[in-house]
Amino acid sequence: MHTDVVTDVLIVGSGPAGASAALALSTYGVPNMVVTRGARLADTPRAHITNQRTMEVLRDLGVEQEALARATPQRLMGNTTFCTSLAGEELGRVRSWGNEPLVQAAHELASPTVMCDIPQHLMEPVLVDAAIARGTLFRYSTVYKSFTQDADGVTVTVEDRVRGDEYTIRAKYLIGADGGRSKVAEHAGLPMGGQMGVAGSINIVFDADLSRYTAHRPSTLYWVLAPGATVGGIGAGLVRCVRPWTEWLIVWGYDVTAGAPDLTTEYAESVVRRLVGDDDIPVTVRSSSAWTVNEMYAETYSDGRVFCAGDAVHRHPPSNGLGSNTSIQDSYNLAWKLKLVLDGTAGPSLLDTYTAERAPVGRQIVTRANKSIGETAPVFEALDGLAPQTPEQLWANIAARKEPTEAAERQRARLRDAIAHKAYEFNAHGVDLNQRYSAGSSTAVVADGTPDPGFARDPELYHQPSSRPGAKVPHAWITSGTRTLSTLDTVGKGRFTLLTGIGGAGWVRAAAAQDLDIATVVIGPGQEYEDPYGDWARLSEVSDTGALLVRPDGYVAFRHRAAAENATELLGEALRRILGHG
Ligand code: FDA
Repeated sequence: MHTDVVTDVLIVGSGPAGASAALALSTYGVPNMVVTRGARLADTPRAHITNQRTMEVLRDLGVEQEALARATPQRLMGNTTFCTSLAGEELGRVRSWGNEPLVQAAHELASPTVMCDIPQHLMEPVLVDAAIARGTLFRYSTVYKSFTQDADGVTVTVEDRVRGDEYTIRAKYLIGADGGRSKVAEHAGLPMGGQMGVAGSINIVFDADLSRYTAHRPSTLYWVLAPGATVGGIGAGLVRCVRPWTEWLIVWGYDVTAGAPDLTTEYAESVVRRLVGDDDIPVTVRSSSAWTVNEMYAETYSDGRVFCAGDAVHRHPPSNGLGSNTSIQDSYNLAWKLKLVLDGTAGPSLLDTYTAERAPVGRQIVTRANKSIGETAPVFEALDGLAPQTPEQLWANIAARKEPTEAAERQRARLRDAIAHKAYEFNAHGVDLNQRYSAGSSTAVVADGTPDPGFARDPELYHQPSSRPGAKVPHAWITSGTRTLSTLDTVGKGRFTLLTGIGGAGWVRAAAAQDLDIATVVIGPGQEYEDPYGDWARLSEVSDTGALLVRPDGYVAFRHRAAAENATELLGEALRRILGHG
């Protein structure tokens, strides 16, 4: 066996984590290579909800429009419906995924991007095509087998399934983006908390024209409360739209202790019929597969020169739609750090901040997604549907809510409240956007000495913009000549950016004096960028003479509220800490 391939970063896996790592690295000019087990990209819809933070990442990486062109738009996502079957009785709806008017306003205020629904088989080609176009070497049918590492790099053994032999690849760094059964994470010995196989679930992908039951209440998700729907699975039966209104994916549970049922076409069709509730509609089952609900997260995301991202380090059910979002955001966090360490700008300790920043996020989203499963139970409870029951009892309970009695009125109120509480799954804007990195654990964030004001409202439901170091730089619409752009559009692109205002000339000079390429953005009347709405002045939390240093991933690394005589020293000191030269 000989080493016949050499690259800077080898990525195992072409799912959302691997594909976005490749795209970001190629965008930053870092030589990289992807090996992936299959002979093609994802061939089933898998993850789909794509939140605003991910769309911001795609915007920075230049593929936002390609993704939107393939997506189901936000306005068709939002009537999350609870029913006895698609053709059956409707129990209630939640205006979700930013379609509730107040939440929609919050979305518009928070970001220049819109949430949308991009099934994974449509998202992966967007990421992979752009990565290859920008230089990623890509090898299908190539299976990761093992790695060894030394002081200078990682040697990875892979199996070429086309040639039927093994060879080695030498890389300076290895990214394990090989999903929920990650061999890279296992071989790296990453310590995991939680447990796998909490409940059993089945995905059934099928074609059927269901417009008559969906077009008038357009939604990504239709939840079915029916006998057997609380066994295993994700809290209830689910009919998920893949393409409106003809391609679908059903999620149905099974008792994990009894093992998955035999997934014959007849079995799959019987589940589809049960959840659709109209036997006259032609149905073509494309595929079915069994999976388990997991509640697992890694405490550490790296070992030496080996880093893991995505499901390799956080495994959870699809509730809240956090799977591919968090995976893409992991890789975006890691890529600029690898670039700066590889080109010698930063010391290797910058890479330690990857675990420091992303592991708490992973733990939080695993917990959130599993909690959301439990929060479906009150919907059943409102119908007395959780207790052991016959189908007849459940139907009778559902019918009882239509009675003109006080008991039925109480039942209706309980049902409304239980459905409304599902906002924590379907409208958790804070979960999507409030991720903060702590200066206490990450050296890539410099505390500015101000007390943390905390969150004024529920941090899971409501996004709270902040320019505190460790927060994502706030979005505000600003102008440059006749162009309107977001403050987020002035940062990123693999560079650090210093934002300041009139009177911030000292900070501009300080940025130019550093041994680092820092973009400078001056916002104010008569400057290159203006703030005609005054939004930036309200959100920046610094005076016109102050400054924010924003990392390539859009997070504030350093903040100073006003001018400083020793701006060059202050900025230099901050950068030494951030870049691991302190
Ligand atoms: P992901 O699993 O997407 O990618 C892993 C990659 O690694 C793949 O390209 C794989 O081929 C490759 N790979 C694995 N082992 C390898 C090896 N040894 N050598 C080389 N390559 C290797 N989520 C959701 O929200 N709703 C849903 O309905 C579903 N459904 C669903 C179905 C199925 C079948 C799967 C596998 C997953 C889901 N998910 C889902 C989960 C969702 O897909 C997941 O959260 C994200 O894809 C995570 O992205 P990653 O890139 O981390 O892993």
